[in-house]
Parts: sequence; C-alpha cells; structure tokens
Amino acid sequence: MLLIVGEAIVAYQRDVTADSDAPYTGPWASGSPAIAAYVAGRLGVPVSFVGGVGRDPLGKVMADGLAAGHVAIDRLAVSDDAPTATAYITYRGEHREFDFRVAGTAAARVTVADLADLPERAAWLHLSGSALIFGEPLASTALTALARAHAAGARISVDPNVRPEALDPASRAALVDALRLAHVLLPSEGELEALGVDAGALVAAGATVCTTYGAGGASVAGASGTTHVPALAGEPVDTDGAGDAFAAGFIAAALAGADPVAAARAGVRVAAAAIRTEGPMTVVPDPALLAG
Ligand SMILES: Nc1ncnc2c1ncn2[C@@H]1O[C@H](COP(=O)(O)OP(=O)(O)O)[C@@H](O)[C@H]1O
Ligand SMILES: [Mg+2]
Repeated sequence: MLLIVGEAIVAYQRDVTADSDAPYTGPWASGSPAIAAYVAGRLGVPVSFVGGVGRDPLGKVMADGLAAGHVAIDRLAVSDDAPTATAYITYRGEHREFDFRVAGTAAARVTVADLADLPERAAWLHLSGSALIFGEPLASTALTALARAHAAGARISVDPNVRPEALDPASRAALVDALRLAHVLLPSEGELEALGVDAGALVAAGATVCTTYGAGGASVAGASGTTHVPALAGEPVDTDGAGDAFAAGFIAAALAGADPVAAARAGVRVAAAAIRTEGPMTVVPDPALLAG
C-alpha cells in the first residue's frame, strides 16, 4: 500500500490569458498529495490518503474525487466545525497565481491518531513538501508518518514541491531531513538548489534523484549515472498537477518492479495523459501506460 498524508484542497481555476473576465471552473478536488494519490489509485496501486476535510459539500467533492481513483479514504479526518480548504488559481500566460483559503479550515486538522497503523503497513510513503506549509498538526503528522514508515522499512519518496520562502525555518529543516531519508527525490528543476540540498551528495549516498523540467522531460540521477527522459510532445490542456501525476506514474511503475529510468518513462507517459485533461483529478490513465 502507498501512503500519502497531506492537504486536501478543493480548487477553482480560471485562465485569464485571453479573456480577463474568464469565469472560474470548479469545484475540483485537488491538492498536490491528493492528486498523486488519485492518479496512483487509477493506475491500480492500493493507496491510502490521510487528510482533512469539513463535513460540507466541498468535503464531499474531495472524498468523491479520491474515491473515483479507488483511494482508501477511511482515514480522512472529517471536521464538524471547520470547512474544507479552497484555493482560487488564476492562469495568466505562463504564470499561475494561487489564492489559498486554508487558514482555519479542516485541511490542517490531521493528527497522529488519524494515521492509525498505516505507516507500519505501507510499502511506500510519498510526501509532497506542500503538506508542511498549511499549518499544524498536519505538518508534524505528515513528518511522523514519514519517519515511522521509514523505520518500518517502506520506500520513501519526497517531492519538495514548495518555495523555501513559504516554509518557516523549522519546517524547512524538517523538509531537508525528509529529503535525506528519501530513497527517491522527485523535485522540479531548481527546487533542491533553492533548499540548499546537494543532489550529488544524496545520489552518492544511494538515493535516486529524478528531476522534472516541464516540457523538457525529466532526468534520473542514480548509481549508474544520469539519464535524460524526454517529455511526450503535444499541446497541454491543463498542466496543473503534472508533477503529481509524474510522481504517481513513477511510484506505480517502481512498485511494479521498474528500475528508476523505466519508472521515469512511465511518469512521463502518465503526466502526458494528465495534462491532456482539464482539472487536476480527472485523468483516467490506462494502467498499460506503466509498461510502456
Ligand atoms: N508542457 C508540457 N509538455 C509536455 N510534457 C509536460 C509539460 N508540462 C509537464 N509535462 C510533463 O509532466 C512532468 C512534470 O512536469 P513539471 O512541470 O516539471 O512538474 P511540476 O508540476 O511539479 O512543476 C514533466 O516531466 C513532463 O513529463
Ligand atoms: Mg514538481
């Protein structure tokens, strides 16, 4: 089982590149960790997601979105007195602006009790660093899950997925520690450098660092050197969540026995399918994409 602990966020999005009055679409079940969980579940991986939602219509959007991906949501923490978190995302050409409405919501109300024994049962734990910026107790719960899964022998992947300025010093140090525990690092270009993490040292210590470059594809650095994997051509419809879909494809393929380069090729194919579909948790990827 793949375990993912992180923020559950319902998104509304609009693209004002061509039309400044373009309306928001949504609500879309979203949030980086939830997207990765959904896509991995669609690919046939048994997945448990632990996150927080309100007992409200948007909480149902979130739960339904995860359930559509066959994600186990029995450990979803449902708050009676706090709403589901939302984000309003505006695309302006190459730029994306995020207006997160997370303060005081259910998203951060995830405790160690909500983990039950999932960390000890997980074969793989995936952390998106974004889970550390939405407050406590979610952030420390996600880190506790990672430490416990690691101690129990699970494979660990970490996608930094966060601007260092968004982290307080303690969270930043905790994310760097998590990256050091990871067997697989899945950063976007520049993210490790921004955190002051030396990818070469982690590779020398045995980790695989798989960096994504948007339309430039991905590179895999590991014991046998660095291999570039090109992206698939085609005009994307919606690149939101591309990195999460890539991570899900990588993890699903690796769990099925693929080596890191083959896993990255699977990640590219799954990400290509995801960005051809509008909405972050809408793609229905063919599990045959894992094998190529
Ligand atoms: N414009 C694009 N064209 C083709 N593939 C893309 C494009 N954007 C993303 N991808 C695919 O998704 C993967 C992850 O995208 P990237 O933008 O690097 O991640 P993130 O969403 O984390 O910023 C890339 O490695 C690539 O395979
Ligand atoms: Mg990324």
